[in-house]
Amino acid sequence: MSTEPTTIRWEQDETGVVTLVLDDPNQSANTMNAAFRASLAAVTDRLEAEKDSIRGVIFTSAKKTFFAGGDLRDLIRVTPETAQDLFDGGLAIKRNLRRIETLGKPVVAAINGAALGGGFELALACHHRVALDTSGTKIGCPEVTLGLLPGGGGVVRTVRLLGIADALLKVLLQGTQYNATRARDNGLVHEVAATPEELLAKARAFIDANPESQQPWDKPGYRIPGGTPSNPKFAANLPAFPANLRKQTNGAPYPAPRNILAAAVEGSQVDFETAQVIEARYFVELAAGQTSKNMIQAFFFDLQAVNSGANRPQGIEPRPVRKVAVLGAGMMGAGIAYSCALAGIEVVLKDVSAAAADKGKAYSEKLCAKAVARGRTTQEKADALLARITPTADPNDLAGCDAVIEAVFEDTSLKHKVFQEIQNIVEPDALLCSNTSTLPITALAEGVERQEDFIGLHFFSPVDKMPLVEIIKGERTGDEALARAFDLVRQIRKTPIVVNDSRGFFTSRVIGHFINEGVAMVGEGIEPASVEQAAAQAGYPAKVLSLMDELTLTLPRKIRKESKQAVEEAGGTWETHPAEAVIDRMVDEFERPGRSGGAGFYEYGEDGGRGLLWPGLREHFTKPGHEIPFEDMQERMLFSEALDTVRLLEEGVLTSVADANIGSILGIGFPGWTGGVLQYVNGYDGGLAGFVARARELAERYGDRFLPPALLVEKAEKGERFTDAS
Ligand code: NAI
Repeated sequence: MSTEPTTIRWEQDETGVVTLVLDDPNQSANTMNAAFRASLAAVTDRLEAEKDSIRGVIFTSAKKTFFAGGDLRDLIRVTPETAQDLFDGGLAIKRNLRRIETLGKPVVAAINGAALGGGFELALACHHRVALDTSGTKIGCPEVTLGLLPGGGGVVRTVRLLGIADALLKVLLQGTQYNATRARDNGLVHEVAATPEELLAKARAFIDANPESQQPWDKPGYRIPGGTPSNPKFAANLPAFPANLRKQTNGAPYPAPRNILAAAVEGSQVDFETAQVIEARYFVELAAGQTSKNMIQAFFFDLQAVNSGANRPQGIEPRPVRKVAVLGAGMMGAGIAYSCALAGIEVVLKDVSAAAADKGKAYSEKLCAKAVARGRTTQEKADALLARITPTADPNDLAGCDAVIEAVFEDTSLKHKVFQEIQNIVEPDALLCSNTSTLPITALAEGVERQEDFIGLHFFSPVDKMPLVEIIKGERTGDEALARAFDLVRQIRKTPIVVNDSRGFFTSRVIGHFINEGVAMVGEGIEPASVEQAAAQAGYPAKVLSLMDELTLTLPRKIRKESKQAVEEAGGTWETHPAEAVIDRMVDEFERPGRSGGAGFYEYGEDGGRGLLWPGLREHFTKPGHEIPFEDMQERMLFSEALDTVRLLEEGVLTSVADANIGSILGIGFPGWTGGVLQYVNGYDGGLAGFVARARELAERYGDRFLPPALLVEKAEKGERFTDAS
């Protein structure tokens, strides 16, 4: 039976050059799916059969991307039972690429779009790589960011191309995506072309000049650049790799970097074919494991759902913001002004005095100068960005603004006052946003005339680096305002999640549980250094006590006071958390309010630099010899956040699982290996039932706050998981 290769189109010219056009008819991007595998096998057979009439081969694409790599919908479904099929399928692709690579004819990759993961691996099997210099051309192996490794020969070939150290550091362990010129400068491709015509001309020129091309590693006398572990000089550097790994993962359970290191080092000591098998074994182990599923779910599917607007009301015409008023030029206002100006929006940055407003703009000047110095932007672009920011103390300068983002002190009456001052100066239908981090939006909206246009837009600090914005719908917020807020967040190239109004919303409320749990453990008498270590090894980017110091210990006291009052006014009873007593003693008895006060759980130098944990903690809190299992310490933090997230779903504050997962990772540092706070529950050993059983165990040992909410128990009993079923 002849399989007409449809995914790879065969085009042969009269000079004997075969162009293999990657063009999957059933998908918008080319992936390593079953149809591709069949097509690749068919073209490989044909190339070998018709070898004598062929002068050379060019791979290129008819799509926007060159080749997108493995099909993540397939990979997320791999189980230990189906792992063998993945292993066999992967090896089949590798063998065919190897047959093409050793055909004895020149093979060129004309990379005319993104070649990431599998796409770059396909290009690596070519003797020559030319990349088109467009904004869409991205080259590299991002698999590690999805908990995987490049299993299509990417480890084997990058090690042979660049040497072990460069392959690991430049390509495999960080997942860096390079543009065309940086890919060339780092040795990933050979040449860059400015136009599609030049791309094909350069590919043909290579074929003309190299009628019998071979890969470097197939030439006699080839040695891996920089040596391999069998060389004593190289072996002396080997211990540095595990140290680098520890630095990258902080000791958290990310199996991919470990497998990548093993595949690279072991594969460097054997022949090419054996190395391919070793790589396949490590790849399949990762693909069949839970971490890659968590990471694919979060960083691919959930992120796509969140950014594509699953939560944006339908049928509302987008109206890009042209001129935004930022009220308050403090830490947050200054950052928001920069992010808006970076996206091309005119900004009027208002504070109480011209000097305060200028200081806010100076923040952008600093960021721009740094970006120019590092070659990330040009002086011209930086000047244009700065020209878009107008600092002022005069409310009348806000005329013509079609959106307002308020970032003054966290005080309801002040926020009411600043909106009253400007609501009739800005455009009559301007979108009105508050960057409050905790105050309920419905009550803030009562201070403006057009409550339907009022919405929460909660940025994270530092704004220029943090990719998330939490959008909060007040009770009277209209769909139009929600759609416009969503579009504004996308316009400034950030990721929006949408929640309903509640004190602390989703992110501020949930991160409070993480901090409380860490502080409570100190109060129980556990060594503070162990608490910090547990947070780091669970994969949190910031250690828990140091994070508390950054936020200042007076903040949870203020939030507690307001929340307690709200609970009691509603007729409820405030449930005291064991962390409260520790925080009260730290502030009142020891006068250690956190970093900004010069002393907290840590000591700080004259210059504000963080020193060691305060020895007084051991004296006043630690009970020598009092220990609990390390796993309990980690899971108390992770579970406290996950359990409250489920409560937020029950309360209707959160309405989407994808929002919870993405918001937790991008906003509040929930460890990425979990796939986000609800994927952590889904992926827990034993699924939801296993999670419920473990929560009950923690409740027994550490307090009723770990008791599983009804929604969780109900879903566990039905054998369900948390999903946004469409
Ligand atoms: P900040 O203290 O650095 O800045 C507040 C600014 O508002 C000051 O420059 C002050 O002069 C100005 N201001 C006061 N009254 C004003 C008025 N009548 N008109 C114009 N400007 C006025 O405070 P920060 O940290 O920037 O916080 C601002 C808001 O953002 C608060 O609501 C806070 O809760 C929220 N937020 C803070 C985060 C953080 O990490 N610091 C994170 C997310 C939200």
